[in-house]
Order: sequence, then structure tokens, then C-alpha cells
Amino acid sequence: MKSIRIWGGRPLGGTVSIQGSKNATLPIMAAAVLHKGITVLHNCPKIADVLFMEKILTHLGAKVCWKGNSLHLDCSSLKCTNIPDKYACQMRCSIILLGALLGRFGKGAIAPPGGCVIGKRPVDLHVSMLEAFGARIEEKGGVLKAYAPELKGGEFCFPKQSVGATEHAMIAAALAKGVAHLKNCAREPEIIWLAEFLNGMGASVEGAQTGEITIRGVNALHDSEFYTPPDRIVAGTYLCAAAITRGKIVIENPPVKELPAFLGVYGKMGGQYDMVGGKLVADGSKAYGPVSRLETEVFPGFSTDLQSPVMAVLSLAHGKSHIRENIFEDRFRVAEDLIRMGARIRINGKDAYIDGTKKLYGCPVTAQELRGGAALILAGLAAQGQTRIDNFHLVERGYERIQEDIRRLGGNASVEEE
Ligand code: EPZ
Repeated sequence: MKSIRIWGGRPLGGTVSIQGSKNATLPIMAAAVLHKGITVLHNCPKIADVLFMEKILTHLGAKVCWKGNSLHLDCSSLKCTNIPDKYACQMRCSIILLGALLGRFGKGAIAPPGGCVIGKRPVDLHVSMLEAFGARIEEKGGVLKAYAPELKGGEFCFPKQSVGATEHAMIAAALAKGVAHLKNCAREPEIIWLAEFLNGMGASVEGAQTGEITIRGVNALHDSEFYTPPDRIVAGTYLCAAAITRGKIVIENPPVKELPAFLGVYGKMGGQYDMVGGKLVADGSKAYGPVSRLETEVFPGFSTDLQSPVMAVLSLAHGKSHIRENIFEDRFRVAEDLIRMGARIRINGKDAYIDGTKKLYGCPVTAQELRGGAALILAGLAAQGQTRIDNFHLVERGYERIQEDIRRLGGNASVEEE
């Protein structure tokens, strides 16, 4: 088992560059399956979830190789259309491969998708969307088998906004017959990046930033290259690291347009930031203000993925804060370990009430999921003494060598494997 040890108590300082976006890369890798040819993704993050997706594509018959942080995918001769449990259970995002397999082969099967334990994570929206495009879906023992000799476009309005189901629909409709009109789509930046990628390989996708997306099916796609944008959640996490340690950091490639609500909260906490020559200069030295009410929302609202990191920061605020988690049912798991470190947090259903304390104390804690694990690292950076965070592999799902970035910013972190 992997652990990360953090020796806390020092303000961070220095310059850091943000890795490629996990949540942009994963659906783009799934979309590459549509094309019988070469796709090259530059600035691709070498994180566990991308390596899981790489294993799945290789299982399907793709030839995959890395040249630095450029991922070369050759999907010319795929030979398999089913994704067994040992792969699918590794992460949630695997479900959208079904639409890619249907688009290319007219059939596909996938075992129940896995992913972080932050809620029930149903796939009903994915299934009803594929059925609306003419697919027949059978579910046996959790395995989804899908058949669609000819996927066709059509109207589909999502009953609720879903990032993954929107991405899934865009991929499934890319090679379908006719035109697909999607309504009540998610508007996260990753949707826009996926549309840009699909259009770059010859698809026809319009309206990604509007919530209403039109996809005109095409007959074939072509080789393409894509430059993955910086990860907005990693950038927000590092700004939280500056806030919780009262430090000052510079982010070289900040996706500031993708963090409108987070930067508003950062300012409410007393965080300051300026854009200087394309870099974000952040000053967390006064970021000790509480936030009386913070709600997670779909984009452009406050991202649920930054809820746990901000909870860690608010644990040391000078006053009381309230967070309401509206997206996932079980995304306060990190609270019990923050409390072990001295935080004063009370959970009541969707609400977390944080009474800021003066100190956190380093101790052994355990990551239970990706962003909660990141929050524990942040708490460790501010805590007195040493914090050991077990299950570090869960953090490696989304953060590429976070221990090196912490050291680059003057923090003290080391990873060990038992
Ligand atoms: C994506 O997950 C992200 N993952 C998540 O990031 C992110 O938290 C989430 O979007 C919300 O922004 C990737 O992009 C790989 P949803 P996804 O479908 O697509 C419900 C991280 O930390 N729902 O938008 O699974 C669902 O239960 C990860 O990087 C249904 O009810 O999220 C949730 O309550 C965690 N039925 C809500 O919708 C469905 O069929 C939003 O989920 C699908 C979803």
C-alpha cells in the first residue's frame, strides 16, 4: 500500500505548472475508439485513471505508446467489443466506451463501472440516451450489453445534467445516422474540450457551451492531434494549498476561465490573486475568512470536485462556515479524518458545518476517495507535525506526482510503498 508523509506548518511558496486535465483526457481517449486510425494527445497527464483507460483500450486491441507526455493511440485494428469487470470496475468513466463501441461496431458490453465511492453513481441517463439513439440495452448481473446495427440521431433531453452522460451522447452520435439534438446538457469545460477534439477528428458538434448540443453524424473520422488543457481541479487544489498554508504561489498555466465560482470563494476567504504575464500570482496569506454558505452546483457553479479541498481550508478559518453538497450523496467522507486532525466539523445529510479551529495536528489518516485524499494532503501541509496519508494510490488517480509539486513549492512530502 502507498502512503504519503507530509511535514506541515510552513507557508508554501514558489512556481508550479498544472498537469493536463484528467476529466478532459478520459472522454477524449474513449472518443478515439471511434476512429480507425491514429490519435495523439499531447500534455496528457500520467495518472492512474489515464493508465487504467490505456489498459482498457489495449484490451480492445488498440496500440498505445507514450512519448514523454504525448499519448499515441492507434485504434486501426480493434478486435474486441467487451470490457470485462477487471477493467470497468476501476473507474466510472469506462461507461462512455459503450457509446464509442456502438458507434464503431454496432455492439458493445461493459461490466458495472467503478469509480470513487462518493455516491450511488447510477447510469440510467446513459442507458436512456443510448436507447433514444436506437440502441437495445440488456442488463444481466450488472453487465450492460448494447446492440445498435444502426445508431440514429434524434431528440434527447437529459432529465438532469450529467457530465458523463452528455459526453457519452456526443461520442455515440458522432458516427450515427442523421442529426442528434441534445437538451439540458452539462456545460462543464470538459464538454467543450470534447467537442473541440471530436470536431478536430472530423465530427460535427455544435453548441457545446450552450447546454443544447447538435451532432451531425459523419461517415468517417481522420487522424488528429490534441493538446490537453490544464486541469482546473488540480489548479484549484493548489490554490487551496496556498490558502491553507497562508503561502504565496505562482501558477504558470492557470485555467482561470474555468474556475469562476471557485475564485469567487477564494476571494471570500481572503485569498488574493492577479494575472501577471499570463501567470496567476496567488497570495493566501490572508485566506482565513470563513464562508457562511457554499453550495456545489453544475458549471458554472462551484465544482463538487473542489468541495473537499475547500473544506480542509475552512477547517482553519477564523469563524464558522457551511457547505451544502448538491451533486453527490456521499461526498463528506473526508470529514472524519479531518476531525481526527483536530477540525471541528458536523455533518447533517447534504450539509457540513465547519467551526474553524486554530490548529490541526498531524496524525495517520486514510484517503477514502480521490478529492478527499487531496484534502487530507492540504490539511497535512498546515498541520503541526507529521501526517501520514494511507491509500495514496487513490490520490494518484487524479494528481500527477503531487509530492513533487509540493516539494517544488517548498513543502515537505515523501511517498513510500509498504
Ligand atoms: C464527472 O463525473 C467527473 N468525472 C467527476 O469528477 C465530477 O465530480 C462530476 O462529473 C460532476 O462534475 C469525470 O469527468 C471522469 P455526473 P460523472 O454524471 O460524469 C447523477 C473527480 O473527482 N447521475 O455529472 O460521473 C450522479 O449520481 C470526479 O475528478 C444519475 O443520476 O458525474 C450525480 O449525482 C469525481 N444518473 C449527478 O448525476 C446517471 O446516469 C452528476 O453526475 C448519471 C449521473
